[in-house]
Amino acid sequence: MTPRHIAFIMDGNGRWAENKGLARAEGYKYGLAALLEVLKVCALKHVEAVTVFAFSTENNGRPFAEKEAIFEVVKTFNENYFGEYKIRYMGDIDFLDDGLIASIEKIEERTENNDGLTLNIALNYGAKDDIIRAAKLAYDHGEFTPEAFERGLSSYGLPPLDLIVRTGGEKRLSNFMLYEAAYSELIFLDTLWPDMKSEDAEKIFEEFNRRVRKFGK
Ligand code: FPP
Repeated sequence: MTPRHIAFIMDGNGRWAENKGLARAEGYKYGLAALLEVLKVCALKHVEAVTVFAFSTENNGRPFAEKEAIFEVVKTFNENYFGEYKIRYMGDIDFLDDGLIASIEKIEERTENNDGLTLNIALNYGAKDDIIRAAKLAYDHGEFTPEAFERGLSSYGLPPLDLIVRTGGEKRLSNFMLYEAAYSELIFLDTLWPDMKSEDAEKIFEEFNRRVRKFGK
């Protein structure tokens, strides 16, 4: 079975750059290149949606230059991507720089009717905030069903999250898609994200296929 929706926690960009004697900022540029390679494999396998963790609410505590480096890579991507993926964002976008917000609005609009894979980019995103917002919305509507709650999550409309992959050696979810992860398969790789190649992506699909999913039954 092909996972319909995969999420990547793209960890290890900074360490990858440091190991090569480069500025950490460079790691994010190579990280984007690795993402595009992994996405090609996902698209060939007919994965419907890929969510990536580009910047967490907790990442706001990082040095200014490093945050700017990540936002610059994201903005440059937004301005230069004219491919067939449908790009959408989730997270607290409103607090970001005006130029970045404008680039997000433009790319979402430009790719809205694309029929390729959906690339959902989590930016200034935290799962706890997202869950609290969804709970408030359900409360405001006086509706307490799982469906009403899920309508308030920023991942609403995407297929169920079948698989979460984290690179970089850490084995935790770090406030990422905590509600959606209920029955996701989890894969943790030691590979630093910019080192991800299409062969590594192929291996992820092989590993997913070895998993027996019972959904508690
Ligand atoms: C964690 O690695 C990763 C991030 C904080 C951001 C990753 C962002 C990108 C690769 C850019 C993606 C661009 C688009 C358009 C989706 P880290 O650098 O904190 O790793 P470390 O543990 O080595 O420090």
